[in-house]
Amino acid sequence: MTGDRCVDLQLVDCSKRFTQPDGSVLGVLSDVDLSVRGGETLAVLGRSGSGKSTLLNILGLLTDPSEGTYLVDGRVSHELDEDERCRLRGEQFGFVFQDYVLMERRTALENVAAPLLHASDAAYRNRTAAARHMLGRVGLGDRERSYPWQLSGGQQQRVAVARALVRGPAVVLADEPTGSLDIDTGAEILDVLLSLAAEQGCSLVLVTHDERLSKLADRRLVVEHGSVRPLADGRAEPVLP
Ligand SMILES: Nc1ncnc2c1ncn2[C@@H]1O[C@H](COP(=O)(O)OP(=O)(O)OP(=O)(O)O)[C@@H](O)[C@H]1O
Ligand SMILES: [Mg+2]
Repeated sequence: MTGDRCVDLQLVDCSKRFTQPDGSVLGVLSDVDLSVRGGETLAVLGRSGSGKSTLLNILGLLTDPSEGTYLVDGRVSHELDEDERCRLRGEQFGFVFQDYVLMERRTALENVAAPLLHASDAAYRNRTAAARHMLGRVGLGDRERSYPWQLSGGQQQRVAVARALVRGPAVVLADEPTGSLDIDTGAEILDVLLSLAAEQGCSLVLVTHDERLSKLADRRLVVEHGSVRPLADGRAEPVLP
């Protein structure tokens, strides 16, 4: 179950606009060039409303750029039909959200096994064993029968991390995964996320408001006024390849 597939993501000259209910057009991202290489970890910072989640949604094939090209492992996103898009999303991406988004009527184990429901790969035939393994890796081996409402926020986020990684994705997209947690619990969650991502060889794009935690990533970017720029902290690298 190691994600040894290295998938490069590349945004070329991408813009994103939304038409608001009153008919006005809101430009959120403009002419963004960004590469995420297989296996790298990237932190994305920026003020509320700057477009961080929008950027993540484009990377995760949840929406397309209004203009420009998004290449997933060399494939152009807007040329994918809905089936291909769903398949790529399920096979290549794992998602972690601020509010966990677990199924309330399912146990921790069932939540983690959920992404394997439609996996046809022989390696995933034993869904329960794979889910149990991941739950153990996030330190919840003894809580597999617990429902989300019986778990703390930090534990629920561990379940969400296990669910994101159970299928061995190439890329994990995490939108403020520590945003609802206290500082120490948030740091623990990020530690688990980073070490499992490193172990599986998958990339991680982490949206965070936490400057300190963002320093754990290989590279840091800021979304500001529609642009995505490297954070000028001495560790920054050019955005373009
Ligand atoms: N589907 C949509 N339709 C219309 N406007 C949208 C849509 N999605 C996002 N927006 C707008 O785009 C802007 C950027 O939103 P986004 O959610 O990407 O910000 P963010 O940086 O993630 O903010 P936060 O830190 O608060 O989560 C906001 O002004 C938001 O209202
Ligand atoms: Mg957001």
